[in-house]
Amino acid sequence: MDQYSKEPYDHLSLPSSDPFQSPTRWWSKETVAIVTGANKGIGFALVKRLAEIGLTLILTARDLERGSKAVESLKRQGLFVHFFRLDVSDPASIQAFVSWFSQNFPALDILINNAGISYNEIGENSVKQAERVMKTNFFGAKLLTQSLLPFFRRSSSSSRLLNITSRLGSLDKMRNPSIKAILASKDLSEEQIEGVVNSFLNDVKNGVWESRGWPEMWTDYAVSKLALSAYSRVLAKRYAGLGLSVNCYCPGFTQTAMTHGKGTHTADDAAETGARLALLPPHQLPSGKFFVWANNNTATFLDSKL
Ligand SMILES: NC(=O)c1ccc[n+]([C@@H]2O[C@H](COP(=O)([O-])OP(=O)(O)OC[C@H]3O[C@@H](n4cnc5c(N)ncnc54)[C@H](OP(=O)(O)O)[C@@H]3O)[C@@H](O)[C@H]2O)c1
Repeated sequence: MDQYSKEPYDHLSLPSSDPFQSPTRWWSKETVAIVTGANKGIGFALVKRLAEIGLTLILTARDLERGSKAVESLKRQGLFVHFFRLDVSDPASIQAFVSWFSQNFPALDILINNAGISYNEIGENSVKQAERVMKTNFFGAKLLTQSLLPFFRRSSSSSRLLNITSRLGSLDKMRNPSIKAILASKDLSEEQIEGVVNSFLNDVKNGVWESRGWPEMWTDYAVSKLALSAYSRVLAKRYAGLGLSVNCYCPGFTQTAMTHGKGTHTADDAAETGARLALLPPHQLPSGKFFVWANNNTATFLDSKL
């Protein structure tokens, strides 16, 4: 993953002014944000930062004990957040969460699909857990999003969906020309994206995935993030002008459990930029973009790579 910075991407700089001090601050304590996979790593850091800034936060985690410990540690820092157990790979858990959410909150403003897994060490490329990786990183995030779509507030400040993806899953990593053409199509549909994912899982099952031009590095993870980015693009198009912005964010090579502590920056650094993206003033808020972490807590965005 540390090859990120060497790649020649076209990019545009985001405004560098501090959105938290901005006179265009649009959020308040009534602004409700959900973060998945938030007991540690970037998810935890995002909850902490957004709670510090003054939003109402719902920290979710798949394990009750790990989630409760995370909430306790925030409490010791004077930050109070809501907590519900949520395993995004389990449809019953998603249903229970959405039911609890709808009974306790009037509306949703921000959803950050952060929960993610990879079973590979850096430099490894096993696909033994491909199904599980798809279930968590793509199908889980998609089902949760679909289930929560009716609850977005869609006010004039715009609701926000931020999917934590990865440059490992950007379209230029796909070497199979026909699959690349499907994913690049302007008229891409959800069914086509699921078709691509299922075709990858079939290739894994049949032992032919290495010769079929799938991304070369962390292949199962890359396909799952590619699918999540593609789904984000479909949603961004569907909700254009309808009060919901949909973007992706690659936090870069970050020091978390996923990278065994390796990386160029901390989870807090990655979360600082993620929080800025989630809170961009409505008039600066794009949709359908793939943002990439960059130094100095600014972000760049890749216009055409989503
Ligand atoms: N670190 C990087 O360099 C990097 C780069 C690009 C993108 N990302 C993305 O950033 C996001 C956060 O990763 P991280 O680096 O912070 O890794 P991390 O420290 O390993 O955190 C991953 C989080 O996801 C949770 N999770 C895993 N499976 C889940 C499930 N089925 N349901 C709910 N939560 C689940 C984990 O919970 P448990 O503690 O219970 O396992 C943990 O809280 C991921 O989407 C990752 O793909 C990371």
